[in-house]
Amino acid sequence: MSTQIEPIKVADVGDIEDEEALVVDGAANGTGRDIAVFFSDGQYYALDDTCTHEEASLADGWIEGEEVECPIHSARFSLCTGAALCLPASIPARTHKVELRGDEIWLHPGVPVEGAVTEVTA
Ligand code: FES
Repeated sequence: MSTQIEPIKVADVGDIEDEEALVVDGAANGTGRDIAVFFSDGQYYALDDTCTHEEASLADGWIEGEEVECPIHSARFSLCTGAALCLPASIPARTHKVELRGDEIWLHPGVPVEGAVTEVTA
């Protein structure tokens, strides 16, 4: 039986600058994996922070529009679906639902967004 992880408040609106991200520690979010919460073009997104190619923090990558580029080997991921958009990454990044409650940003760890890509795409 799977255990539902409770949503957690991660920040207030305005705490994450445009094209920036914050990392929610795996121990704090209940999944055991660090999760990056991104803000880009007025939208919030969340992906597993660790690149699916090797060990790099996607929160340290380049965020533009609906994509993030890994800072190590430049694989790009869709912030919307987690899809790996180019090599060397071929495995999608896990998505997590983000919800705004008034001025508060809430993360639903382990709850994928609608339309999340879970299969190899590149
Ligand atoms: S570690 Fe991200 S592309 Fe290689």
